[in-house]
Amino acid sequence: MIVITPMKDKDIAAVVEIEKLCFKFPKPEAIFREDEHKYLVARDDDQIVGYIGIEKVLDEEHIINMAVHPDYRGKGIGRRLIQHVLNDEEVFFLEVRTSNETAKDIYEKYGFKVISIRKAYYPDGEDAYVMRRIPGE
Ligand SMILES: CC(C)(COP(=O)(O)OP(=O)(O)OC[C@H]1O[C@@H](n2cnc3c(N)ncnc32)[C@H](O)[C@@H]1OP(=O)(O)O)[C@@H](O)C(=O)NCCC(=O)NCCS
Repeated sequence: MIVITPMKDKDIAAVVEIEKLCFKFPKPEAIFREDEHKYLVARDDDQIVGYIGIEKVLDEEHIINMAVHPDYRGKGIGRRLIQHVLNDEEVFFLEVRTSNETAKDIYEKYGFKVISIRKAYYPDGEDAYVMRRIPGE
């Protein structure tokens, strides 16, 4: 059974491993330690299988990132993570690589819309879509 809980110190090593498996430019462990309070983890029994990061930026909620271990994808864990953080009172926004159809698809299913493009947002020069979710839209 998948359970979602705040990330603790002891979870960080597993989160960093998933980060490395999922992203071309993984964030270092020090960032996760510094931002520990911003992350939630998805656990399948004792195993960390995914995580999501969220922070308040001015008056909007920013989804920093989300990832699911490659062995656990397509089972609804990404959906569970996003459902866990969303609410119908606040505005949410995020950036996603323009090539990342999978992530864009999942965010669109939860009401996010592309509002702009940030040119060369990523270190390899790829653009990002900025997506926003406004309650009631
Ligand atoms: C994006 C990600 C978190 C989705 O996690 P997941 O647990 O596999 O997602 P779910 O099983 O909950 O699927 C939810 C939706 O994602 C989309 N999706 C999942 N797998 C997909 C695939 N192989 N191809 C296309 N869309 C897919 C579908 O819209 C799916 O909706 P459905 O349930 O109606 O089919 C995961 O693919 C991942 O970790 N990717 C690498 C990291 C990343 O890109 N993170 C996002 C950065 S902004």
